[in-house]
Amino acid sequence: MIKIEASILSADFARLGEQAREAEAAGADGIQVDVMDGCFVPDITFGPGMVRALRPLLRAPLDVHLMVVDPERHLEAFAAAGASRLIVHQEVCPHLHRTLQRIRALQVEVGVSINPGTPLAALDEVLELVDLVQVMTVNPGWGGQPFLADQLDKIRRLRQTLEGRGLHTAIAVDGGIDPSTAPLAVRAGATVLIAGSSIYNSGASVAESVAALRAAAKLGLRTV
Ligand code: DX5
Repeated sequence: MIKIEASILSADFARLGEQAREAEAAGADGIQVDVMDGCFVPDITFGPGMVRALRPLLRAPLDVHLMVVDPERHLEAFAAAGASRLIVHQEVCPHLHRTLQRIRALQVEVGVSINPGTPLAALDEVLELVDLVQVMTVNPGWGGQPFLADQLDKIRRLRQTLEGRGLHTAIAVDGGIDPSTAPLAVRAGATVLIAGSSIYNSGASVAESVAALRAAAKLGLRTV
């Protein structure tokens, strides 16, 4: 089953709780909280307080995407705030193996993300430690960017590598996911679609937007 997560980065910041609940009611399988520190990426967004505020409003998992330097400093606070999964970027984890072990010890799901310029080989030694690999299909920092189709081959190679090792690890794809790109990502091997602007800024309702993504994702599952 393909999961769809709504990224609140593109939601109305003045109504975040309401918008997260709208996505959940529309059938989103999770909410991705894009944490930005102004260092790893230029913008600054949310801290653990946002996760703590959202947690009681939702049943859906809260997936925290840590676009921050030195993420190890923040793991406990986000886990204590109610994160269901913590995703760190390989690019800012010199002790990635230890960082992922520490997330596991916090008893939340373990995720690692790689930017478009980062080779898959950077994850070779840690694939057995994670529940999810998030492949960025934009250079992180903003919502509403165009999908980088050259990352599809990376997704395909990642899925082949995981299958070769007998791993059923989730592959999330984040950035530029909309009804036209969702089938491509799924066909390449993605199992989790992270979408912000195509849910909150599509011009249709949140419910219609999630439904359109769900239908598009199904197209990717059809054997040609
Ligand atoms: C990094 C963020 C965005 C966001 C999705 O920039 O992680 O990728 O979640 O944004 P959209 O769906 O608007 O491309």
